[in-house]
Amino acid sequence: MTLIDGKKISAQVRQDLAVQAQKLKENGTEITLAVVIVGDDQASRVYVNNKKKACAEIGYKSIEFALDATTTQDELLALVNKLNDDPTVNGILVQLPLPKHLDEKLITDTIKPEKDVDAFHPVNVGKIMIGDYDFLPCTPAGVMELLKAYDIEINGKNCVVIGRSNIVGKPMSMLLLHQNGTVTICHSRTKNIAEITKTADILVSAVGRAKFVTADMVKDGAVVVDVGMNRDENGKLCGDVDFADVAEKTSYITPVPGGVGPMTIAMLMKNTLKAALIQK
Ligand code: GUN
Repeated sequence: MTLIDGKKISAQVRQDLAVQAQKLKENGTEITLAVVIVGDDQASRVYVNNKKKACAEIGYKSIEFALDATTTQDELLALVNKLNDDPTVNGILVQLPLPKHLDEKLITDTIKPEKDVDAFHPVNVGKIMIGDYDFLPCTPAGVMELLKAYDIEINGKNCVVIGRSNIVGKPMSMLLLHQNGTVTICHSRTKNIAEITKTADILVSAVGRAKFVTADMVKDGAVVVDVGMNRDENGKLCGDVDFADVAEKTSYITPVPGGVGPMTIAMLMKNTLKAALIQK
């Protein structure tokens, strides 16, 4: 079994981006990411801080807009529109979830597609479907980067994705399909899920339930990618995969933490540089 080291691969990606950002800076282009956070969700605060820190380390500028939980929809839309029109802002990221009185879809749909570094806008989602992308959604892109870094062949392999969210499951399935994987998507209504996951050469879990994937669901020698970010019964960070139970059956497995998580931010940074290049 080989442990997939997301921290290491993420550091390599960010190092490459830092070199490119430095070159752009020498030519007078500074890369700027606007990060919008509304309210005081603890997890969102941690994510936003990590994104800002990644920007600083690579040499991008980040501008944070921390808005009160009572911010109205019109106020938030006005900010997004202002950032859309600001030529010094290359990427716009509105951290989700938003407080309940705000319409997440309306807000993310208002971000200009060419500044949409999360790839949540319908134009970008549509491009992913066709395989003609400017921006890849960060988490699925991070998974693909990990598979590439470890020379894991996708062509002709049985790939099973557990989860069908717009942020992870659906785009993940498309990216595997584009690399000629035979892709099956499982979800909460899937019957006999273990029978299906056991056919997977590459199993990607994005369900958000601690220890959901157990050894009886995994084929010997499978590649197991764990996108989950959950807390176990002791409040400790853990993935969807029962790592202790599953790891020895696999050929490759991602740990949580230190697997897919660090790649998500690296891909956000990649999208931000791409945004700057598109706008240039
Ligand atoms: N909240 C959880 N994941 C994400 C993400 O990838 N992007 C944004 N904007 N918010 C999130």
